[in-house]
Amino acid sequence: MAAVIAPLSWWPAPAKLNLFLHVVGRMPDGYHALQTVFQLIDRCDQIGMAVRADGVIERPEGMAGLAPQADLAVRAAQALQRQTGVRLGASLSVIKRIPAGGGLGGGSSDAATVLVALNTLWETGLEIDALAELGLELGADVPVFVRGQSAWGEGRGERLTALALPQRWFLVLQPAVAVSTAEIFQAPELTRNSEVVTMRGFLAGETRNDCEPVVASRYPEVAAALEWLGSQRDLAGMRVRGRLTGTGACLFAAFERAEDAQHVATLVPERWRGFVARGLQYSPLHGMLGRG
Ligand code: C5P
Repeated sequence: MAAVIAPLSWWPAPAKLNLFLHVVGRMPDGYHALQTVFQLIDRCDQIGMAVRADGVIERPEGMAGLAPQADLAVRAAQALQRQTGVRLGASLSVIKRIPAGGGLGGGSSDAATVLVALNTLWETGLEIDALAELGLELGADVPVFVRGQSAWGEGRGERLTALALPQRWFLVLQPAVAVSTAEIFQAPELTRNSEVVTMRGFLAGETRNDCEPVVASRYPEVAAALEWLGSQRDLAGMRVRGRLTGTGACLFAAFERAEDAQHVATLVPERWRGFVARGLQYSPLHGMLGRG
């Protein structure tokens, strides 16, 4: 019998932006307690999955320089196998379109898509809460992608409240550096005692990304990109506001109209890359399962 027993199907893994990120304390295990808003966007990795009969998890295609055993997509499949005792395997082809090391949650989203899709393809029947819990062991950002809705996040980012955000377009700017999340969370100069903000405070715009000053001072390319973004104007002449997502290195600016985002995108200096993305309330992953 051939190892692959079902046709390849393709599953999307969207990126996220942190519209703000406050570090409000520290957990007993050393992790940081955060407040954030996760905004899903329509920039997606794609993962081709085919069920194997022999229990093997293979990754024939994936990010250059990332070994299969270090790939969160592979680790997610292994975690689901362990949790459920299923004897099936999978072939995973990961097509990366989300920049890695950018604070866009690409690796976490890949892991979440594998958990949700294989739970269907393997017919392992875990509830969404169990999948989110399993995902949290792989990374703090996995649960929001498992649940598949833009959300208010607290704790490590796993205590989630779905949020209906206004329709926005985003210019995402990618400075040519990768930032280590662990390095930024270990930085002595990081603010760790931000006041707890209410949802009303967020809506009034009283927020920031506490990681931004740390990343900007350690990575001059990020500081330069942030300064460039803040000196731009949209088509109506309004000043653009740039902000870091997660621990960077990517920055973003929000616009009500697609044409404003497109306009500023045409001005991005050649040494950086940029792309325009639409904000999503629901993950396209859940649209595929008829839940979106
Ligand atoms: O969860 P993730 O693998 O993205 O986190 C990378 C590292 O960043 C963790 O090992 C931890 O040191 C730090 N971190 C933290 N507090 C968070 C998220 C991450 O201290 N809420």
